[in-house]
Amino acid sequence: MIETAQAFGVDIGGSGIKAAPVNLEAGEFAEPRLKILTPEVSTPDSVAEIVRQELEHFEVPANIPVGIAFPAPIKPGQTIDFMANLDQSWIGVDVTEVFSKACGRPVTVVNDADAAGLAEQQFGAAKGQDGFVIATTLGTGIGTALIYNGVLIPNSELGHIELPNGKGDAEKWAASSVRDQENLGYKKWAKRLTKYYGLLEKYFNPDLFVVGGGVSRMSDKFLPYIDIKTPIVPATLRNEAGIIGAASYAAAKLLAN
Ligand code: BGC
Repeated sequence: MIETAQAFGVDIGGSGIKAAPVNLEAGEFAEPRLKILTPEVSTPDSVAEIVRQELEHFEVPANIPVGIAFPAPIKPGQTIDFMANLDQSWIGVDVTEVFSKACGRPVTVVNDADAAGLAEQQFGAAKGQDGFVIATTLGTGIGTALIYNGVLIPNSELGHIELPNGKGDAEKWAASSVRDQENLGYKKWAKRLTKYYGLLEKYFNPDLFVVGGGVSRMSDKFLPYIDIKTPIVPATLRNEAGIIGAASYAAAKLLAN
């Protein structure tokens, strides 16, 4: 692994498993990332094997902190009890144990949206922002990170709030993957996002929303049409945020121990 990297990050998503060595001083990739498609049947064994291959590809030394951003609420030492977008066989699994075993070293696992939010707060769109920030990721699902005065309140799952009028689970109606599946134009999608962010605004009164995920690189096509009062800005680290945040979280955890 290249010397300018102090940690290694992996971001596990519904469509791809991305990894890169991270330069934590600059808050950026130290080498171009590697992306391997998420296996169609995304069981613990098949996903962990890909993560193992990614560590092998970058020749990550054993003493380098490894952070893994994972799309479910994560409580260290406890098993997964909710899984929206990977195989249901993750339920009942100790995710830290599975990845540590596959990688042959202890790794740190953190919720993917929390990782992305932390990275935006440290290096990106929410840097220097006081008060209450809600960072969101729009991808296969909707992820959320609640950050108050720089401190993360982990494992919020506001992508799953129940929408009024029988519309059900928010991410099944407003995620970026739904825009693709239903072939929605950006303006039409922005109407759904107005309803979604409007609800978050009503119940949480944040000072800033950050919109991340791969689609944030198209933010000029939909962000101006999200009609809410709270300032809403695109993530500046885009979909690199999960990897950078996971790496940084793992390094900080190692320092704290
Ligand atoms: C999961 C969250 C995750 C989000 C983004 C949701 O379906 O429940 O834990 O952060 O997707 O991947």
